[in-house]
Amino acid sequence: MFSEGKALAILKKKIKKPPETLMILGSGWKSVADLVEEREEISYQELFGVGTSVPGHVGKLVVGRLGGKTVALMVGRFHLYEGYTAFETTMPIRVLARIGVKQMIVTAAVGALNPRYKVGDLVILSDLLTLLLQDRPLSGPQFLDMSAVFDEEMREAAKTVLKKEKVRFWEGVYGYYSGPNFETPTDKKALRLLGADVVGMSTVPEVMMGLHLGLKILGLSFVTNLALVKHDHREVLREAERGSEQMKKVLAGIVSVV
Ligand code: HPA
Repeated sequence: MFSEGKALAILKKKIKKPPETLMILGSGWKSVADLVEEREEISYQELFGVGTSVPGHVGKLVVGRLGGKTVALMVGRFHLYEGYTAFETTMPIRVLARIGVKQMIVTAAVGALNPRYKVGDLVILSDLLTLLLQDRPLSGPQFLDMSAVFDEEMREAAKTVLKKEKVRFWEGVYGYYSGPNFETPTDKKALRLLGADVVGMSTVPEVMMGLHLGLKILGLSFVTNLALVKHDHREVLREAERGSEQMKKVLAGIVSVV
């Protein structure tokens, strides 16, 4: 992976206008990138010196206009289970923050642990269960306050858009699981007991880095499968694809009001 300084220099050369909002697009969320106008694209290979290895993740940064704002969209992300450290997975956030991004919308596909949730539901994240994250993006005496992780105003704006679009949604807690294997039934029961409503393999290191950099953050997850029901990555991608029109509309709506 390139150094932060090198990636920053490459990005500065490539884009005309610095983005205000960063959106990290997980499985299924990426079609919102189709709506971006006056766009510049740069592959992760070109920008960071490495691509992404996950099926369903493209691995490019799109910068342009969406909902009256200049936005940067990460189409795909780096995960710990690909062998990166938590610090490395959050490199794009540091680069984008240095270029001027002030807020971030972090999206993901998740498995539901809360029995009331259904496949296709959206979740506005209210908090994180970070206990199972073994590698942390911060080191040394950086005592990050995580008492209010997600931005109240962004959450309210998201709720308003979801209600207007008549999308079924919840406010819930995202629990981190390292992967790349999915959880056992006992893992899922344990995560539920610890307070998580959904489980996924991303989001948490990114939110920690974003908070550390002073960004306002909104977390959104899309339920692709249920706890205690057998599932695989293809099913996650299929459900994500099925919901992608809705996710596209919702994200475009939210970015225009935050
Ligand atoms: N577990 C972890 N990550 C996931 C899942 C899951 O069930 N579904 C989508 N991402």
